[in-house]
Amino acid sequence: MLAILMSPSPNVASHYAREGTLTGRILSALTAAGKDLARLSPADLTPYDQFHSRGHRATEELAQLLSPQADQLVLDLGCGIGGPARWLADQRGCRVVGLDLTEVYCLTARELSARVGLNGRSSFVCGNGLALPFAEAGFDQVWTQHAAMNIADKARLYREVARVLKPGGRFGLYDVMAGPAGDPHFPVPWSNKAEWSHLMAPQGVREAILATGLKERHWRDLTAEAKAWSEKAVAAQQAGQANTGPAIILGPSFAEMVANLRRSLFEDRITVVQAVFDKPG
Ligand SMILES: C[S@@+](CC[C@H](N)C(=O)[O-])C[C@H]1O[C@@H](n2cnc3c(N)ncnc32)[C@H](O)[C@@H]1O
Repeated sequence: MLAILMSPSPNVASHYAREGTLTGRILSALTAAGKDLARLSPADLTPYDQFHSRGHRATEELAQLLSPQADQLVLDLGCGIGGPARWLADQRGCRVVGLDLTEVYCLTARELSARVGLNGRSSFVCGNGLALPFAEAGFDQVWTQHAAMNIADKARLYREVARVLKPGGRFGLYDVMAGPAGDPHFPVPWSNKAEWSHLMAPQGVREAILATGLKERHWRDLTAEAKAWSEKAVAAQQAGQANTGPAIILGPSFAEMVANLRRSLFEDRITVVQAVFDKPG
């Protein structure tokens, strides 16, 4: 029964996984950019490892809102190749556990963390956000960026988040949600087809989270900021300065995915939201 409930997950993982070693492709790109692989810093990786709109700026903003402390343990749900987890561990000094469904991403995340000396403070587990392999009340904070759009059962996802949070803990999200103007154009970076995309309107997401007992602290629609960032990305591309990092992750169809993302954004088919919730102490 559990397998049926979670049946889209193997498709989601196959959407993200690609042939060949991802770490190898990223290291080649870093070498081509003139970086010394023996002296890589977490900041050198940011063009490649922040797999969400508005890049590391979005990660910094969410970190500022959540303000994790050095002695705290944070879960990054749907961590991708571990960029935000490394950023938190490096900049905030906290310990971060990243969890992701896509095995090659977890492997890549571990390899990249080891490269920049952060494997002590960031570790990675392959698993499903709908059945977190953690005891209850183990994390001071849980955060997730651009992963919920692949997950149909939002109620269950947020129940899992609330379960693993300590009383007094904090949950932060930065996610793509459904816009008022209908479905996005496919493929988009999170899905080749409509069946693997599970966008919910902001009010539905908010209600699903509040139903777990978490209390809203902050809710901000960042769609206008995402549009401005998209305009800048197009200008950079036209000037021959495009960030090629995400294309290394998603392969040759990335250009089409980004064009559809942009079109969907400007046609109000998607909304981008940042939010923080507290678990009562
Ligand atoms: C667009 S990426 C974002 C990665 C990362 N949060 C970041 O911002 O760099 C979405 C990630 O969510 C993961 N994902 C999708 N469904 C998941 C699930 N049910 N459980 C855990 N991870 C999931 C995917 O494997 C992918 O790595």
